Amino acid sequence: MAIFQLLFFTLTAGVCPVTSKEIRVKAGEIVALYCEGGDGKTLWKSNSSQGMYLYNKMSATEQRQIGVVVHENILVILNASINHQGNYECSSGNTSSQHWINLTVYTQSKDMYSRKCFTEEFCKLYCPDIYIPADKFTSKGTTWNKEAPENGEFSSVEEKHSGVYTCTKSYLYHGQTYNVTFRVNLSVLPHKKRKTAEIQKPRNNEEFQVELGSPKVINCEAFTHSDTVSLFWFSGETFFDKKESSPVYYNTTWNNTEKKMTASLVFTKVLEEHLSKNYTCKLENDIQTPKFVTITLTRKARPSYISLAVCIVFFVVVSVVTVVIYVKFKVDISLFLRDTLGCHSSTSDGKSYDAFLMCYKSDTDEGLNAQDRKTLESVLEERFGYSLCLYDRDILPGNAVAQAVLDCIEQSRTVVLVPTSPDPGLGSGLLSVIHEALVEKQTRLVFINTETPEMSNSGSLQDALQLLSEAGNHVTWKGMSSMLPSSSFWKQLRYYLPAPQHAPKMQLLPQTVQDVN
Ligand SMILES: *[C@@H]1O[C@H](CO)[C@@H](O)[C@H](O)[C@H]1NC(C)=O
Ligand SMILES: *[C@@H]1O[C@H](CO)[C@@H](O)[C@H](O)[C@H]1NC(C)=O
Ligand SMILES: *[C@@H]1O[C@H](CO)[C@@H](O)[C@H](O)[C@H]1NC(C)=O
Ligand SMILES: *[C@@H]1O[C@H](CO)[C@@H](O)[C@H](O)[C@H]1NC(C)=O
Ligand SMILES: *[C@@H]1O[C@H](CO)[C@@H](O)[C@H](O)[C@H]1NC(C)=O
Ligand SMILES: *[C@@H]1O[C@H](CO)[C@@H](O)[C@H](O)[C@H]1NC(C)=O
Ligand SMILES: *[C@@H]1O[C@H](CO)[C@@H](O)[C@H](O)[C@H]1NC(C)=O
Ligand SMILES: *[C@@H]1O[C@H](CO)[C@@H](O)[C@H](O)[C@H]1NC(C)=O
Ligand SMILES: *[C@@H]1O[C@H](CO)[C@@H](O)[C@H](O)[C@H]1NC(C)=O
Repeated sequence: MAIFQLLFFTLTAGVCPVTSKEIRVKAGEIVALYCEGGDGKTLWKSNSSQGMYLYNKMSATEQRQIGVVVHENILVILNASINHQGNYECSSGNTSSQHWINLTVYTQSKDMYSRKCFTEEFCKLYCPDIYIPADKFTSKGTTWNKEAPENGEFSSVEEKHSGVYTCTKSYLYHGQTYNVTFRVNLSVLPHKKRKTAEIQKPRNNEEFQVELGSPKVINCEAFTHSDTVSLFWFSGETFFDKKESSPVYYNTTWNNTEKKMTASLVFTKVLEEHLSKNYTCKLENDIQTPKFVTITLTRKARPSYISLAVCIVFFVVVSVVTVVIYVKFKVDISLFLRDTLGCHSSTSDGKSYDAFLMCYKSDTDEGLNAQDRKTLESVLEERFGYSLCLYDRDILPGNAVAQAVLDCIEQSRTVVLVPTSPDPGLGSGLLSVIHEALVEKQTRLVFINTETPEMSNSGSLQDALQLLSEAGNHVTWKGMSSMLPSSSFWKQLRYYLPAPQHAPKMQLLPQTVQDVN
């Protein structure tokens, strides 16, 4: 595209852009004068040595007699001669905009168009275009002089191909062929002098984060040794222009120090519709194939307060549920781990008993009867495999009672206090001794209570028992319902007791897992 833009400005100089008020044409050739901004109502006047004409007042036949064809804003002089030299004026309908074209006709062409190519590369010579109205003239194509390759295309150009080539364009009008000839000076430069350019920024397929409603500038940067490269932005079929009044435009800057060309794509305000498009920055010069980089816009991800709140709520709920589950099922969980995975300390501490089961007479508690106590002992020993130190079995008669009890405590990992009725006959002084021993040895203490307090006032609880009661864990015996080994009583009790050091005599079946549930 830039090639054509470039060609247009350099090559159409001989044809008619309004900026160049002077047009040169070789005698005997066809020339088209183009009125910039004109339309179907364009008025053409001339003052030349041929005379003064108001072309719009003439019929087509009269125009042809003087060798002129007027078509909207184009005036064609079929066979330029010295008589056509002079001033041509065009004005659009309301005459407020007028353009002057000073036409010079010469006999020997001096105009030359230049073309640069690099050795060993494909090189095409371009023959300039003129504004011939296509619906009145038939183009008969372009011919190059015989030194030029076919269609002016070198498949691999050499330095020896440098030189001046001529091309002729022919147009057919009313059976007559009219020609225009151009000269093109080809310079073939060594390949190493090739001045290529690359787009450095942005990366292809890069995504740019934008905020809707905010402006955004995206810079496309190319390093190049020549500022003749063309760097511009487009999206699909839309080529952005440089008008700053457009909602999307681009501008280019050339930094000669850095040899950097920047094309900035400017969104004055990013809209929703901009997000769905691809934007391409294209680099063109006349010595290499064009380079493209395509980018897209994406909406900047805003922190979502809703999802943050959901996360917090979720976290709180999970924490609460975890705590609740743990509190509610800690007994089951730890027993499960202990029974099925063997997750418990197996280091021997040199003690011979898992627990010392000791009966006492409680003032507040009805206590377990002899039958319940037997059940308690046998389930602990038989079913769960605990080794127990029992007062009336393992304490040898003859020893001082207090010393024997202390020995038993020393040999046991836990002390389980069982309220019993009738009174086992241990003096309350013994409880004080036990309390001191427990405090000193830091032995675990488990209290078994019954659901039915004998007396409501706890104030009468013996002092020593009161102290022990505060220090120990409590498990409630619920009579018949606590008989079953799967009841919560047993779970609680086992939870507070250490894991038995010896395998139970009766193998624990996996039903323990079900017991948990
Ligand atoms: C243009 O005019 C010249 C002389 O004025 C004439 O010799 C030549 O044949 C003409 N060419 C055409 C194509 O009419
Ligand atoms: C036409 O051009 C001649 C000289 O080329 C000049 O003297 C004359 O005033 C011009 N006429 C108009 C109407 O411009
Ligand atoms: C005359 O035409 C020009 C461009 O075509 C336009 O900008 C201008 O408004 C027109 N003036 C009048 C008086 O119609
Ligand atoms: C037109 O161009 C010729 C040659 O350059 C010059 O002599 C002449 O004064 C110009 N006329 C006008 C009206 O600009
Ligand atoms: C126009 O160009 C063609 C092709 O180059 C050539 O054959 C023909 O003779 C030319 N005509 C005139 C009038 O110069
Ligand atoms: C063609 O261009 C080269 C450099 O671009 C220049 O040196 C040479 O003089 C030109 N040839 C003609 C005939 O103008
Ligand atoms: C291009 O546009 C941007 C944004 O409006 C601006 O900051 C920059 O200065 C402009 N550059 C030129 C060369 O106008
Ligand atoms: C070109 O770039 C250099 C280095 O970054 C900087 O100092 C200089 O101001 C720039 N020149 C222009 C015209 O922006
Ligand atoms: C953008 O480009 C990608 C790949 O280059 C293509 O798949 C997609 O269809 C394009 N989107 C639009 C809107 O052109």
